[in-house]
Amino acid sequence: SSSSSSSSSSSYNATQLRLPGAIIIGVRKGGTRALLEMLNLHPDVEVAKAEVHYFNVEEHFLRGLAWYRAQMPLTLPGQLTVEKTPGYFASPQVPARVWDMNPAVRLLLIVRDPAERLVSDYTQVLHNRLTRHKPYQPLDELLIKEGHVDPGYKALQRSLYHQHLARWLEVFPREQIHVVDGDALIRDPFPELRKAERFLDLEPRISPENFYYNTTKGFYCLLSAGHDKCLDESKGRPHAPLARRAFRKLCRYFRGPNMLFFEMVGRSFSWC
Ligand code: A3P
Repeated sequence: SSSSSSSSSSSYNATQLRLPGAIIIGVRKGGTRALLEMLNLHPDVEVAKAEVHYFNVEEHFLRGLAWYRAQMPLTLPGQLTVEKTPGYFASPQVPARVWDMNPAVRLLLIVRDPAERLVSDYTQVLHNRLTRHKPYQPLDELLIKEGHVDPGYKALQRSLYHQHLARWLEVFPREQIHVVDGDALIRDPFPELRKAERFLDLEPRISPENFYYNTTKGFYCLLSAGHDKCLDESKGRPHAPLARRAFRKLCRYFRGPNMLFFEMVGRSFSWC
């Protein structure tokens, strides 16, 4: 975490930029920022603050690993570097590229109810368009075509977790991908963090005292070394409206894909 990374006045400063030992690969709107900031509470973890988009953006990837490393935070020997780029999960070319960097890298995937995730995804796109004074379509127009859920809608496709995970599992063994329950992380972050520490072979150093429920925000915020930090207002914002009928259609649509995902990860989630 940032508190332990500051350069010391000792005669030998061993801090270096290192490639990540763990990557949060997605999903978009799953709670990737919350997970990264929470892992950063750990004294043996340092995180890349900005999304790096190395493996999924051609222009970045062509710059090579030296560029990638330069985006990383300074770490001491023994500290774990973590980056998060939610776009990695759904990009077909990414798994093999990550493997080529380091076949032992640990992968974190945070998932959330796919219907809620879709609405959150739409809400983010809507917000970006509104701030750029661009036109937008209501969600139900994008989602429902001639009475049916439109399988061509991009935000819908990003919620088909089994399809994306299948591509990662062609490259990485199942044990190398830790699935974090994003809905559980919202309700009570500590247990999910404890599991993540175990997966990452970290000493259990994050504690329940690192979290408090902020009633104004309606989410947990972080406490570390006397500092109080909530995620910014783009995290946990009100969702764009969607008629209950359309939401139910969506839930029905995801039933099959969800079962396939549960089989793939060997556990189930109580999604709509
Ligand atoms: P919503 O804005 O739809 O509620 P990402 O960082 O991957 O974009 O994910 C954003 C989501 O993180 C938010 O989606 C929010 O629900 C979730 N989240 C989880 N824990 C949070 C926390 N402690 N504070 C704010 N948002 C949190």
